Amino acid sequence: MKIEFIAAEGLAAIEGALAVSAFDGGDGSGTEALNEATGGAVKRAVEASRFKGKAGQTLDILAPQGVEAARVLLVGAGDKAMFDASAAETFAATAYQSLKLSGAETLTVFLPGETAETAAQAAFGARLAAYRFDRYRTKDTADKKPSIERLRIACDDPKAAKKAYAAFDAVADGVELARDLVSEPANILHPEEFADRVRKLEKLGLEVEILGEKDMKKLSMGALLGVGQGSVRDSQLAVIQWKGAKDKDETPIAFVGKGVTFDTGGVSLKPADGMEEMKGDMGGAAAVTGLMAALAGRKAKVNAIGILGLVENMNDGAAQRPGDIVTSMSGQTIEVINTDAEGRLVLADAIWYCQDRFKPRFIIDLATLTGAIIIALGNDYAGLFTNDDDLADRLTAAGKAESEPLWRLPLPDSYNKKLETAAADMKNVGDRAGGSISAALFIKKFTNDVPWAHLDIASTAWKKAGSSPTTPEWATGYGVRLLNRFVADNYEG
Ligand code: BES
Ligand code: MN
Ligand code: ZN
Repeated sequence: MKIEFIAAEGLAAIEGALAVSAFDGGDGSGTEALNEATGGAVKRAVEASRFKGKAGQTLDILAPQGVEAARVLLVGAGDKAMFDASAAETFAATAYQSLKLSGAETLTVFLPGETAETAAQAAFGARLAAYRFDRYRTKDTADKKPSIERLRIACDDPKAAKKAYAAFDAVADGVELARDLVSEPANILHPEEFADRVRKLEKLGLEVEILGEKDMKKLSMGALLGVGQGSVRDSQLAVIQWKGAKDKDETPIAFVGKGVTFDTGGVSLKPADGMEEMKGDMGGAAAVTGLMAALAGRKAKVNAIGILGLVENMNDGAAQRPGDIVTSMSGQTIEVINTDAEGRLVLADAIWYCQDRFKPRFIIDLATLTGAIIIALGNDYAGLFTNDDDLADRLTAAGKAESEPLWRLPLPDSYNKKLETAAADMKNVGDRAGGSISAALFIKKFTNDVPWAHLDIASTAWKKAGSSPTTPEWATGYGVRLLNRFVADNYEG
């Protein structure tokens, strides 16, 4: 979809589909100029319907007289006093969703009287709304394919809006990349393929190193390697660096992602029902990859590290068994009680390596770590665990601003006894009670007391398709927007 910014004038001459915001209250139309141009058609259409201008409502008026537009879409935008950039994002996304299969090729979103930033965020919303993972759909007929080829944002200062859009465009690229990675099936996206896709990001100016199993053996990453040992694919550790700060030697910030390209559970096999969703168990690594692409794409003034632990957890003759004891890079030993608690084993070595090599200001890890976080929070919130109150505040604020909300859970020392075993320094599972917390406490043992936050995104990395106008597909790309904002608001310049 081509995105253009044009001047918001000459309402009557706009061609194609025209989307206008209508506010709650009054007759719901709030679009006097348009009503006049159409000889009262807008008002009559509103009166003939239940359209009240409430957020999310739409009313499609076909072939109105007096204007060039083939159709006018009224989009409920809620309370006028509350209309801001984020409401404009939802407005444009909703307009796109209602017209994507309509046959319209050009969609003009009318946004007079708003700032350039707001106009840019509207374009961002429509772009996220237009995401589709259709690589393997070979039989879609023309009427099942989206028709909109051109999006025009009509605003007061198109030049300034276009300029403001550049950063949004980079973030949208990152979100799309993360969604693609999560959607891609595991027969295609195995650890080596994931690593190859990361290497391609060098063209954005990122530095990429890939460690294979041999390299990781030398580093004594027994916890990560144990998870991958049942797979025919070589486990990989991707190290991505973005040096955007003025001082290239400035202490970096770091992000670590769980990249289990498929999680069968291993010998502690998962039930068949829904197991296909475990192709998305690399959602943390996908978010970190998308974030790094976004930072590079918009030339963020920060030094950032992204580390991905890429493994496939298979059930096989060579797979690790319950009761196996592995030695992590930190030297701590782990009794693997349940081979399905594999994400924490991967993170244990990836996080230790990260702090050991880069001595970062802090580490944030993202992982589709526990089913328990879905039970606790449902699918709109991800879980936040941290040993640092400032990180908690900054991450929570960024999540709220980007509609990727977080909810903080505790890390009580007293629960550490759940992870005790006579056979080794720790075991990899606690009991069912507080399962997300014991998982986080396990990871904490590998942070070496660096400021750290853990985002359990098992609840948000994928959702029912169409759960919001900007997340039309199963994979959400959750985390890219949140972390991009977290970096932009706190660590650049
Ligand atoms: N990848 C899963 C967690 C998960 C579950 C993600 C559902 C997304 C949706 C993780 O590796 C896992 O299997 N966790 C176990 C831990 C248990 C064995 C302690 C779980 O949550 O059941
Ligand atoms: Mn698992
Ligand atoms: Zn997993």
